Amino acid sequence: MPDIAEAKRKKISPSSLAQMKLDGVKIVCLTAYDSLMASLYGGLVDVMLVGDSMGMVRHGFATTHHVDIDMMELHVASCARAKGTALLVGDLPFGSIELGPEQAITNAVRLIRAGADAVKIEGGIKRQDVIQAVVNAGIPVMGHVGLEPQHILMTQSFRSVGKNDGEVQSVVADALAVENAGAFAVVVEAVRFNLSTQLEAAVKIPTIGIGAGPLCDGQILVAEDMLGFFEGNPKFVRRYAELGHLVQEAVTRYADDVRSGAFPSEKESYQ
Ligand code: KIV
Repeated sequence: MPDIAEAKRKKISPSSLAQMKLDGVKIVCLTAYDSLMASLYGGLVDVMLVGDSMGMVRHGFATTHHVDIDMMELHVASCARAKGTALLVGDLPFGSIELGPEQAITNAVRLIRAGADAVKIEGGIKRQDVIQAVVNAGIPVMGHVGLEPQHILMTQSFRSVGKNDGEVQSVVADALAVENAGAFAVVVEAVRFNLSTQLEAAVKIPTIGIGAGPLCDGQILVAEDMLGFFEGNPKFVRRYAELGHLVQEAVTRYADDVRSGAFPSEKESYQ
């Protein structure tokens, strides 16, 4: 049962992830955006990420650019109330770090005060100074390299990275910049197998893959993707449930019962 497993688990910290890498234990990460979901698996995973993917998954936006620090703060606080033993990481969204270290520290502090244990910052070499400043302020940072959804206005593409030598070198350099800036782990998104092989050889901090193959030290997926809430999924997603269909089936039965008068019954009424 989840609560027994949770009682036995120790609170995960950034240094637990380093130890897991040393011990060859895979790191399990999943997104969560609110306390309902966090309460279901905060004791079952190692890291819960309140990702800015929340803008697309829960608010219906086409990209992550519409998520601001106020939205992040609200969702981090919601997850924090039920985070269990998981390390809770809050994404610093588009527009919250671009002005430089001061802005990044101010916004990272907001997410920590909302209940995050660490923050995630997207971008490699171009964000090295910002990551370093946030780490120096005493806030653990997870990096994010490879496909960078906050930068797709520039790249205009969600395609995988690592097609040629230039791309491989540049992502490896990004990951090393993140490591040198003091990040405790790095998310590696949508990179081809040749690139992930080179990353594993070059980087010492734990790598958390999403669409980056089996070599990474851990894996992350968007919870709603793996739980089957959407019709289609990217190639790298494995579906472990079909909750979208279950919800529709349950609501259809409820609607039929209300319309036919079968719900509520006398048993479900106060006498
Ligand atoms: O925002 C997010 O959920 C992420 C993951 C996809 C890694 O950055």
